[in-house]
Amino acid sequence: MRSTIIAGNWKMHGTCAEAEALLRDLLPQLPTDDRALVIVCPPYTALATVHRLIQNTRVLLGAQDVFWKERGAYTGCISPLMLLEIGCRYVIIGHSERRGRFGVPEPDFDAPVLAHFGDNNVTVNRKLRAALAHGLVPICCVGETLAERQAGQTDTIVADQVRAALQDVQPEQAARVIFAYEPVWAIGTGEVCQADEANRVCGLVRQTVQQQYGTDVAAAVHVQYGGSVKPDNARELLAQPEIDGALVGGASLKAADFAAIVAAAPVS
Ligand code: 13P
Repeated sequence: MRSTIIAGNWKMHGTCAEAEALLRDLLPQLPTDDRALVIVCPPYTALATVHRLIQNTRVLLGAQDVFWKERGAYTGCISPLMLLEIGCRYVIIGHSERRGRFGVPEPDFDAPVLAHFGDNNVTVNRKLRAALAHGLVPICCVGETLAERQAGQTDTIVADQVRAALQDVQPEQAARVIFAYEPVWAIGTGEVCQADEANRVCGLVRQTVQQQYGTDVAAAVHVQYGGSVKPDNARELLAQPEIDGALVGGASLKAADFAAIVAAAPVS
């Protein structure tokens, strides 16, 4: 049986003071049983603050991105070593807000959702391998845009992203990866993917892993759903057999909502 993993992606929300207030609100509201693993992914600058506050709690720490080099002349980048030192065990990789695969030569800086940080299947693979090599658990995001869904390309895009992310990854390492199926059109829009469709695509992620690594690795890999997960839809999503948890954006910034999503995880 795979555990349920609920991760909060705070995105660019949370000064240290705000992060502290959110956690102090959240911690007493979380269920005390072990129905789900709970991860929070604050901005880099709040990682140390959050790490201090989650000592002796059930909450685990993740970052929102990582560079694949350990050190060097890479202005603005953060290495796996830095994340480990600050207490991270998880790292989100390849979020659609960081991928720039829309073929837009000049990003639209006023677009409601930016996708201009230049990640692609190659950089996602490098980041994922670097994370695994250092013992971090990657939460690797995959998912199609609205245009790709309307063109009937969902399965091809998602399977390609999964295969590319796992290129040159050994089976025992692949088994540790958490995938997050996040259809781009469902992120921050309030438009959640129907539970049966989310279950189908999460199943496709697992099948893609199985084709490459066999049943044991496929059975070990966790596949989360992300995109407008809220307290009122979490229970149905988390009850799906192929969905092993949620990657939560907006609702992870509200303590009561995030705690309710954790509480919606099935009790095994
Ligand atoms: P929302 O939950 O705000 O739709 O964001 C989802 C997401 O992008 C999590 O990584």
